[in-house]
Amino acid sequence: AYTAAPFLPTRGGLPALRKAAATCRGCPLHRDATQTVFGTGKATARLMLVGEQPGDQEDRQGTPFVGPAGHLLDRALADAGLDPADAYVTNAVKHFRFTRAEPRKRRIHKAPTLREAAACAPWLAAELAAVEPEMVVVLGATAGKALLGSSFRVTHVRGTVLEEEIHGHRRRLVPTVHPSAVLRSDDRDAAYQGLVSDLKVAARALK
Ligand code: URA
Repeated sequence: AYTAAPFLPTRGGLPALRKAAATCRGCPLHRDATQTVFGTGKATARLMLVGEQPGDQEDRQGTPFVGPAGHLLDRALADAGLDPADAYVTNAVKHFRFTRAEPRKRRIHKAPTLREAAACAPWLAAELAAVEPEMVVVLGATAGKALLGSSFRVTHVRGTVLEEEIHGHRRRLVPTVHPSAVLRSDDRDAAYQGLVSDLKVAARALK
């Protein structure tokens, strides 16, 4: 099976993890991606945000949520009274997965497979252990399945505070929709307000 496990350092905290992740070959996604996009933020962050995988801009720049979905997320965090500077931001999968309609044409995001998400899970587990966030905001189904298992359904639990055992630790989580789903929605205003109201649940629980 694909797994990142042999690439994880045994000590050194976030800087060591980030450095090791840069050369991860735990699954085939590293071959076509530009670079590993590891999480960013302080080890002391009280809030962790978990997305799906880097998009086109994130792949080029090496930082999570710097493209269109990231701009929307930043605005939603601010509207919910959360400071992005106090959040650790990462993804369930650390490499961009894409296809092209034609050679040399625009790169089109493709959802990671369960095998790829499972292969990448040790990085997310190590980030959780290093940051020990008080609250985890789960952005969409891929992040939810990575953290809570394949039966996770966003629509069933969004906007609620869950307490779950993850890798042997009690974690508090608030699932919500992925910001990219807001961008694709037919009713963007309503979808955006839904995201903000879910984020407010996380904000209140952190007070
Ligand atoms: N979508 C994600 O899930 N993560 C990113 O970093 C960017 C877009």
